[in-house]
Amino acid sequence: MRILSGIQPSGKLHLGNYLGMMKPVLDLEQKGESFIFIANYHALTSVDDPESLRLNTMDVALDFLACGLNTDRTAFYRQSDVPEVTELMWILSNVTPMGLLERCHSYKDKIARGLASNHGLFAYPVLMTADILAVQSDLVPVGRDQKQHIEVARDIAMKFNNQYGEVFRIPEASIQSDAAIVPGLDGRKMSKSYGNTIDIFGDAKEVKGKIMRIVTDSKSVEEPKDPDSCNVFAFYRLLATDEQREDMASRYKEGGLGYGHVKKELAELFEARFAPLREKRRELAGNPGIVEDVLRRGAERARSEAVKTLERVRYAVGLA
Ligand code: ADP
Ligand code: TRP
Repeated sequence: MRILSGIQPSGKLHLGNYLGMMKPVLDLEQKGESFIFIANYHALTSVDDPESLRLNTMDVALDFLACGLNTDRTAFYRQSDVPEVTELMWILSNVTPMGLLERCHSYKDKIARGLASNHGLFAYPVLMTADILAVQSDLVPVGRDQKQHIEVARDIAMKFNNQYGEVFRIPEASIQSDAAIVPGLDGRKMSKSYGNTIDIFGDAKEVKGKIMRIVTDSKSVEEPKDPDSCNVFAFYRLLATDEQREDMASRYKEGGLGYGHVKKELAELFEARFAPLREKRRELAGNPGIVEDVLRRGAERARSEAVKTLERVRYAVGLA
């Protein structure tokens, strides 16, 4: 089975991104032949500063490698290092009905939020389709917000196959469940746009400061507390083992436990989990050659598939 997922290079990795996207993608990596890429062509729809795009791209590469991406199993690459994808996108554009793209929520949402409407933004799902079909991926792990785009990819692949013969495998989405939504410091969904994030690779002191500022109710130390309605516990449970979680829940209910104390334990859990990754990231950042080498090898692997696919596609449509 082939598995592919793309990640837009869009800023610092926070706990929500890590648990909601990166961890599930890395877990799936074990289950087949994986392709994971940094969607820098897609990022051009929202980033217009060249230096930011370059820096963010390197940041994502470092994040994934520090979090344990297995470079023997997985082709890890920059989307723009596989230019076959853009050729395929053009060919697929010709079997893509306008109506299919006009119905996409993500496009409509972006326009509603004030992004200028341009062809890149509109054609975004066709580029995603090309990413997936170029390497003939079977499974595509994505967040809920991307589900419709995978349906677009399936439609386009079927339409192409109907018109030109069976060239493409029909991909399927693997959607991460709602249970994985990570709350932010203020209890809303953790998101860069709400400024309520804890960054995985943030400075240890700064992370601790943020944890100590998590909003709670004003119950005294002595009072029994409800873990299920507590913001601090919501974080604690995400990082704790089952045993630690149950133990903490009963300490909440007994009373005699202050929120400050729970926050301290939470900060310790966070450190235990992420300090080694932070260290690994620091090492890699000092060795950009290693990162470049991984991305180059990943691109070679992805390209070898994309070139094969494009040969069949070009022949099927009459270009070759
Ligand atoms: P942000 O909301 O901070 O801008 P993005 O929209 O760039 O984050 O999300 C990147 C990836 O991280 C997506 O796959 C998304 O599903 C996942 N993600 C973002 N925030 C959360 C969260 N709070 N809980 C779970 N997953 C999240
Ligand atoms: N659009 C996706 C996102 O913002 C990233 C992406 C680009 C992608 N191409 C893809 C995801 C192909 C899966 C498959 O999250």
